[in-house]
Amino acid sequence: MDAATASVARPSGDVESLIRLAVADMAAVDALIVERMQSPVAVIPALAEHLIAAGGKRLRPLLTVAAARLAGIEGGAHHRLAAAVEFIHTATLLHDDVVDGSQLRRGKVAAHLIWGAASSVLVGDYLFARAFELMVETDSIRALGILSRASSVIAEGEVLQLTRAHDLKLTQDVYLEIIGAKTAELFAAAAESGAVAAGAPEARIQALRAYGMNLGMAFQLVDDALDYGGTTEALGKNAGDDFREGKATLPLLLAIARTAGREDAFWEKAMGHPGDQTEADFRRAREIIVGCGALQATLDLAGSYADAAKAALEVFPAGEWRHALEGLADFAVSRRA
Ligand code: IPE
Ligand code: IPE
Ligand code: MG
Ligand code: MG
Repeated sequence: MDAATASVARPSGDVESLIRLAVADMAAVDALIVERMQSPVAVIPALAEHLIAAGGKRLRPLLTVAAARLAGIEGGAHHRLAAAVEFIHTATLLHDDVVDGSQLRRGKVAAHLIWGAASSVLVGDYLFARAFELMVETDSIRALGILSRASSVIAEGEVLQLTRAHDLKLTQDVYLEIIGAKTAELFAAAAESGAVAAGAPEARIQALRAYGMNLGMAFQLVDDALDYGGTTEALGKNAGDDFREGKATLPLLLAIARTAGREDAFWEKAMGHPGDQTEADFRRAREIIVGCGALQATLDLAGSYADAAKAALEVFPAGEWRHALEGLADFAVSRRA
């Protein structure tokens, strides 16, 4: 598929009720995002808009908004936090695509291929800094602390992952630690900070943090499954990126364990020297991963995390926001984009 014409599917199904409920909140968040990505240094808004105008699912700011609403927020402090959360996410995507050498993001050519890696990294830093300005404006030191900590944990997760690239002996525990840090921590912080902005009681803040953490784990497990089982067209990023760059994700680790003794030479050749891989190697890896049940096992584990996320919401009375967050947990597992 031509990289420039790929399109990112929008979330649908289980998450539609959340999008509907949050439409006014998200319009306010989007307005802040557009306002705060501006700069007189022209390459900054150009590069940021390339990525931000391409859309993306906006799941993390939706999570901040929904958590704040479920916790009964009055006023609009959650809009600034939600915009900050999306800026943090966007910054990590700019950095991540440089590190991963990815060519396609949100259905468009990755920014570093247009403006160069240096500009991509620096504009990522700019968006991080803009996120911190927004957080400070809320006057909530606690929310600032939560999202600052998440930012350092994400960076730790990305560095830990980098140091374990091509490691076919990576344990499931370390894999879970990596995805917890690089992805789930921001989901947890997004939900927790929304609850804090609403002045929720501690038990409810912790419930929303637990919801976000479990949702984030499910989300990254499915991301890692879709890298083998999804399509470039629906994802808006190239399927097979993880395999090509030698990233040891759960579908691969499970398949290696399940085919021990039979496929060792293939895995060693394909993952030990990622540069030498062919498209046929990826197709073979995908066949093995699907055939031995590793893809389904990854999705099943994601399902367990989604169930834990929904269970965490039981401290809240039934209502439209709780229901919408339950739908978001289902979406994290059923999504194709
Ligand atoms: C991509 O996140 C990075 C991961 C943690 C897998 P999303 O799939 O939420 O990306 P966008 O924002 O919708 O493009
Ligand atoms: C996403 O990990 C984590 C962050 C962006 C911090 P991936 O490398 O799996 O994300 P994609 O697949 O590039 O979106
Ligand atoms: Mg990546
Ligand atoms: Mg991925």
